[in-house]
Amino acid sequence: MFSFYWQKFIIPFWLLALTAIVCFIIASLAGLAAPLVVKLLIDDALGANSMKFLHFITASIAILYLFRGVFSYFYGYCMAKAGNKMLAKLRQDMFSKLQSLDYAYFMKTPSGELISLFTNDLLFIQQAVTVGIPDVIVESINLLAIMAIMIYFDWRLAMVTFATLPFIIVAISFFNSKIGALGVLVDHALAKVTAIIQQSLVSVIVVQSYVREDYEYKKFSDKIQQAANDLLKAQRLSAILVSLVEFLAAVGLTIIIWYGGREVINGHLSIGGMFAFLIYIINVPMPIRKISQALTHLKLGVVAWGRINSLLNEQTPTVVEGDLQLPHTDGVVEFKDVSFAYWQGKPVLEAINILARPNEIIAIVGPSGAGKSSFANLLLRFYDPDTGAIYLDGLDIRRLKIAELRQHIGFIQQEPILFNTTVLENIRYGRPDATKDQIEQAARLADAYDFIMNLPQGFDTIVGELGGKLSGGQRQRIAVARAIITEPAILLLDEPTAALDAQTEKQVMAAIRQAGTGRTTFIITHRMSTIMASDRVVYLTEGRVAEMGTHQELIDKGGLYAQAVRFSEIEMSIDTNHL
Ligand SMILES: Nc1ncnc2c1ncn2[C@@H]1O[C@H](COP(=O)(O)OP(=O)(O)OP(=O)(O)O)[C@@H](O)[C@H]1O
Ligand SMILES: [Mg+2]
Repeated sequence: MFSFYWQKFIIPFWLLALTAIVCFIIASLAGLAAPLVVKLLIDDALGANSMKFLHFITASIAILYLFRGVFSYFYGYCMAKAGNKMLAKLRQDMFSKLQSLDYAYFMKTPSGELISLFTNDLLFIQQAVTVGIPDVIVESINLLAIMAIMIYFDWRLAMVTFATLPFIIVAISFFNSKIGALGVLVDHALAKVTAIIQQSLVSVIVVQSYVREDYEYKKFSDKIQQAANDLLKAQRLSAILVSLVEFLAAVGLTIIIWYGGREVINGHLSIGGMFAFLIYIINVPMPIRKISQALTHLKLGVVAWGRINSLLNEQTPTVVEGDLQLPHTDGVVEFKDVSFAYWQGKPVLEAINILARPNEIIAIVGPSGAGKSSFANLLLRFYDPDTGAIYLDGLDIRRLKIAELRQHIGFIQQEPILFNTTVLENIRYGRPDATKDQIEQAARLADAYDFIMNLPQGFDTIVGELGGKLSGGQRQRIAVARAIITEPAILLLDEPTAALDAQTEKQVMAAIRQAGTGRTTFIITHRMSTIMASDRVVYLTEGRVAEMGTHQELIDKGGLYAQAVRFSEIEMSIDTNHL
């Protein structure tokens, strides 16, 4: 944590940190000096009946506290400023790391956990950095300075008062650790509440259609109640702590009054000295309390930092970046003996051999779970094959820069994901420098132009979260336009027409055929009409290429594919998928 503090906070923001420290020292000195001025007041002004000195001292006290106030403010300001800057930087680093992590990482990490990193954990770090660490250092110095001054005044009296310190320390640390633990519970409960809200927002249609509102409400209110109870416990302990510390301080006070009074009567201590002592002892519990609280912040910060650090240092061994550039490709794709498993021992694809050339449309067909989408994941390098290799123009795709490879592939998914912005921006996403004309052209190719023009604001219509304001077929056609606009050498479509009616499917297939001119097209599909529009069928079952050939060849062969067609499994799956 301290090395993190040094590298992420002190070094980048050294000027702010230094200013903060200087301000702090001045503010503390002013605070520490005040009781001394009181001593002067009593002993030298009141004792000597000097009016002039009284004025001087009153003015000094006012000035001291003004100094203390102003410099405390600057200290707080500089710390907060540096803290916010550090946090913003950390957030950016985390976000860009998140963008760079591969698909496999997101498959295994719940999104709620990632959101919690950005909210709760960053907050813990902020508190540790701007309150925890500075307070531990600063208040320790403060405490030592107070103790040193007390010893300097009257070491016997100092020793007697210090005897009460261990009790104060023990009480404060005991209560604070309990309060800290409760705080963690509250945070956990609140994180769960966030997760519940997030999930129910996404699945509101399921919740309402299954009439589970009450169940969701109960789940939610239980967690809220739990958080409220824990919070109350923490607040109660905190109230007890305040009273207890006040009581212990009062005990210290009594001792000073008794023992200090004796010292004064015996002539070892001046009256002013005794008053200064009283003020110091009243000030003692404060730094101790702050240190103890700061230690709790630190503990939480260390845990949060561990989690954030493991995100920042996340290695993505699933796919390793290559270094070859490939500005142009013919789009010749070859799978050679490719085998792949998500979990060891459970192969999803086995010994796949496929050679695909430009101008070819290859339909990848097979029962659900046969490994069709996994085939797409491998071509996009979301995962790498365990054995065998995939070649683009004869180059192993692992040697290419990943971004370069993906730029050559126009990918359309089973469930297209749109951003909550305009239709125009959604299509442009594929190619940021596309002109309005190119965008309209792509929309026409994807047979989306007419329906877009019928939207309330045409191309400037906002599509809603995940494209929710559009129909499934409309979303899909926008996704097709987004893929086409990059003019990729390879089109990779995972059930692109599954959500479309027969009429629209024909149009989109015609568009895909047209867009496929000069490109290599892989189209994963369950639908007969899409298969009929393809040049070659690859029939996958249980991760293996069972048969390959044109639709007619496979029908004539009378094998598994012909059987699937005969038992209308291929047509059937439309219904089961999209009723
Ligand atoms: N990210 C993943 N992690 C682990 N296993 C996975 C993952 N994705 C898919 N699988 C498994 O791999 C197998 C093949 O899945 P895949 O998605 O490739 O099938 P599919 O042919 O596309 O099926 P569908 O027609 O239903 O889309 C399935 O058994 C599935 O459970
Ligand atoms: Mg699939």
